[in-house]
Amino acid sequence: MQKFFVLLILALIALACGGGEDAPSEAPAKKEAAAQEIDVKKIWKIRCIACHGLYGDMGTNGAANLQEVTSSLEDRIKIITNGSENGVMTAFGEILSEEEIEAMAKYTMSFNEDL
Ligand code: HEC
Repeated sequence: MQKFFVLLILALIALACGGGEDAPSEAPAKKEAAAQEIDVKKIWKIRCIACHGLYGDMGTNGAANLQEVTSSLEDRIKIITNGSENGVMTAFGEILSEEEIEAMAKYTMSFNEDL
């Protein structure tokens, strides 16, 4: 009889744990939202920092000093998408999504305090 109770308790524990697996039906939706949030600082560190530096003013290989340039958002989107005319800056059109490029273009504007 005692064994039966032990088994019953074990079964209940198993049920309680198993039930947890399909319980968080909200989780996938949340994950999607997180994936859509663009982490500009992370992209900056991975893709841009080598030439532009952490604060946008490093200027490796003649990279534009982003603390000083005053270009429009459209021009920035263009250069990030197509690369620079002299071919030094990589074209990111095939690497980043349009949304990411726009977010990065806006982010580069934040380096210039006068904008
Ligand atoms: C290989 C070096 C390199 C990398 C990597 C690089 N850039 Fe550049 N970037 C340059 C150079 C060089 C210029 C200047 C081009 C010119 O004046 O023709 C430039 C110019 C720019 C400009 C235009 C500034 C202006 O004059 O208005 C923006 C905006 C910009 N980069 C953003 C980025 C972003 C965002 C990334 C990362 C996604 C990035 N760059 C990665 C080298 C680089």
